[in-house]
Amino acid sequence: MSKRIRLGMFQAMTPMGQWRMPGNTSTDFLDLQHWVTMAKRLDQEGVDFLFMADDYAYPVVDGHVLPQAIESSVQFPKADPIVLLSALALATERLGLVATVSTTIEKPQIVARRFATLDHLTGGRLGWNVVTGAGQNASALLFDEPLIPHDERYARADEHIRLAMELWEGVWEDDALVQDRESGTYADPSKVHEIDTHGRWHGARGVLTVPPSPQRTPVLFQAGASSSGRGFAADYAEGVFLASEPAATAAQIAAVRDLLDANGRGRDAVLFLSAGTFVVAPTAEEAHAKRALQASFWTLEDAAAAYAFFTGLDLMSMPLDEPLASTRTETGRTNVERFSGANGAPALTVRQILEEFQRNSVMGAPFVGDPVQVVDQAEAFLAETGADGFLVQPDPTGTFDDFLDLVLPEMRRRGMVAEPPQVGATLRERLFGHPHLADGHPGAAFRRVRV
Ligand SMILES: Cc1cc2nc3c(=O)[nH]c(=O)nc-3n(C[C@H](O)[C@H](O)[C@H](O)COP(=O)(O)O)c2cc1C
Repeated sequence: MSKRIRLGMFQAMTPMGQWRMPGNTSTDFLDLQHWVTMAKRLDQEGVDFLFMADDYAYPVVDGHVLPQAIESSVQFPKADPIVLLSALALATERLGLVATVSTTIEKPQIVARRFATLDHLTGGRLGWNVVTGAGQNASALLFDEPLIPHDERYARADEHIRLAMELWEGVWEDDALVQDRESGTYADPSKVHEIDTHGRWHGARGVLTVPPSPQRTPVLFQAGASSSGRGFAADYAEGVFLASEPAATAAQIAAVRDLLDANGRGRDAVLFLSAGTFVVAPTAEEAHAKRALQASFWTLEDAAAAYAFFTGLDLMSMPLDEPLASTRTETGRTNVERFSGANGAPALTVRQILEEFQRNSVMGAPFVGDPVQVVDQAEAFLAETGADGFLVQPDPTGTFDDFLDLVLPEMRRRGMVAEPPQVGATLRERLFGHPHLADGHPGAAFRRVRV
């Protein structure tokens, strides 16, 4: 009996898949119709959500944007996906809409207001991928601010998310919005509470002006797998995105589940979705040919640019046949720890890291083959890692058409995919069966207890 899984679909407002592949349409990423067409299809096919990754960054080496990144389109160019979401909400009925906002870049009051608004406009189908942020070296330069040390970014993230949750959960009582034309009471002042919270980096005295949205707090996702990232996930995440080799993925999931046990939320409080790349065609030969063509467009220089984006480290300046000359970075650590022996796996040489990035970039090895073969591979991955589903990467063409045409029907045939919920269900109801944060979540402590 196949395991029921969850499916999120990964995109960003940037060329996706491999933009040089024949048939790739992701260079239309600034065309609203491109997104509306994609979201409508995802909605009809019944996947759980569309995830829009985001950051303000690009590859930077020696303090400057890397020309290679501009030339080959490595994490460049890029636009702001939050702006898309209300249009996609109107075009869809059930599809969850999840987007990244960095706790390092934006203030919690801004995030709370924008996400509360979007949770209304999506009818409660919103999720927030809470990250400290990739490419922090680039965004620090762009904002003309000092690079905040890695672990301090997570300490700030802690205050950030707590303040945002207090605004969502702790200001408006459920029945504060009255809108009584007769009496002239729009909202009951005794049921709208000021918060008064002051931390080291974030504080507020005041109210969230947006009335409570269907979920109040959007579904909380998290995506940094460094050791501080795991602690943050165990404290706050309801869903975690991962991307690594199977053994490392299994170890990450086990580590976060142990932390969940320790902090009382319970081992099953979080859904773990691993990046899943499906290179699929009606026959295995065609799929392998597609994969080979896609891989031929990636150079080692592109791989180094991608690595610089995620870690701030310039592999091209290091001896190729030795392990990383330096693992010290205040940019992202996930892809340093992943290859430096820190996770129990042997340390790779710089050349091996470059080759791994050239083949697979950050999202791990793809499943390649005909529909039956890729779903077999995906099921083996799930069995080995204990993941709850996939964050499906775009096809080489940048869309999900191959996945939806060939993989999803095979998953359905095996009973792996849940039926879509009723129109009107919130994303949290769809994923967890209840509309609001679980009682054991730290955000629930901000709720007003009505007497
Ligand atoms: C599937 C997946 C999706 C991610 N999406 C984003 C994103 O949209 N924006 C971002 O800044 N970081 C994203 N990341 C995580 C970044 O890599 C992470 O925030 C960064 O590495 C900093 O955290 P760390 O030091 O814990 O790695 C994603 C990671 C994975 C595995």
